[in-house]
Amino acid sequence: MSSCRTAAILSRSFLRQTVPCSLFSLTSISRTAATETSAGLFPVWIRNLSTSASSTAGLPKDKTEEKQTVLPGNGIASGHGRPTHQTSPSTVKKHHNPVNFTDKFAYWTVQALKVPTHLFFQRRHMCHAVLLETVAAVPGMVGGMLLHCKSLRRFEQSGGWIKALLEEAENERMHLMTFIELTNPKWYERALVFAVQGVFFNAYFLAYLASPKLAHRIVGYLEEEAVISYTEFLKDLDNGTVENVPAPAIAIDYWRMPQNSTLRDVVIVIRADEAHHRDLNHYASDIQFQGRELKDAPAPIGYH
Ligand SMILES: [Fe+2]
Ligand SMILES: [Fe+2]
Repeated sequence: MSSCRTAAILSRSFLRQTVPCSLFSLTSISRTAATETSAGLFPVWIRNLSTSASSTAGLPKDKTEEKQTVLPGNGIASGHGRPTHQTSPSTVKKHHNPVNFTDKFAYWTVQALKVPTHLFFQRRHMCHAVLLETVAAVPGMVGGMLLHCKSLRRFEQSGGWIKALLEEAENERMHLMTFIELTNPKWYERALVFAVQGVFFNAYFLAYLASPKLAHRIVGYLEEEAVISYTEFLKDLDNGTVENVPAPAIAIDYWRMPQNSTLRDVVIVIRADEAHHRDLNHYASDIQFQGRELKDAPAPIGYH
């Protein structure tokens, strides 16, 4: 890649981080992303606020309305985003076909991890979601931390990837904070979370040091499974197996949802978040499979 092109990409990335999103046209970014990915497509992180209004019950139609959304308790909404697409079954399902050894290793690792998890939780979706989110919030923090240290060591930009991965970690933690309002894990489930975190944090840390493209691919497949799990959750909400209780206040605040939102609405927006994480991590892996570094392609920041 020529130095001019690299500079142009980094400068666009820098603008994305420093200029308010409402003032910054994403048209050029989206064109860049389309040409930078191996598949030529990564439309997922392109904001489409008009779509959000039609696809998620009562969500604001534009940034102006967003900023005027009054939250319960105190103040005006700011700081959080919400999913803007991938809220319908027809758009949320995607699968990255494993094509090489690394992909297949990542795919079958996730499939192997899935078996005991499903045997343990079966259709206890809430408990499953709690464990899933305690795991899902780790990779973004580990990847972001390692890229942060790399940026410091090399005196170079990250292309926005540190921010993107830390945003993902924070978003996953908010999924957990939402579900914990609705369920109370038993002592052995808390013990399981404790043990899984100890193993998974260290395993992922080592995996990211050894092969970031493998690490991102594993997370891509984990997020594919998260989308499937939340789709099953929705099925049981629709057939009455799980009660569709009112959405917790923390979820209404975070996603700026209407006051009368329900658990079903929450699961739909969380599933859309997972779809975004899936696409972001597969994209990150694709970049590195092309022999490039993450900093060479602008990160999909500002989604959450
Ligand atoms: Fe999540
Ligand atoms: Fe996720």
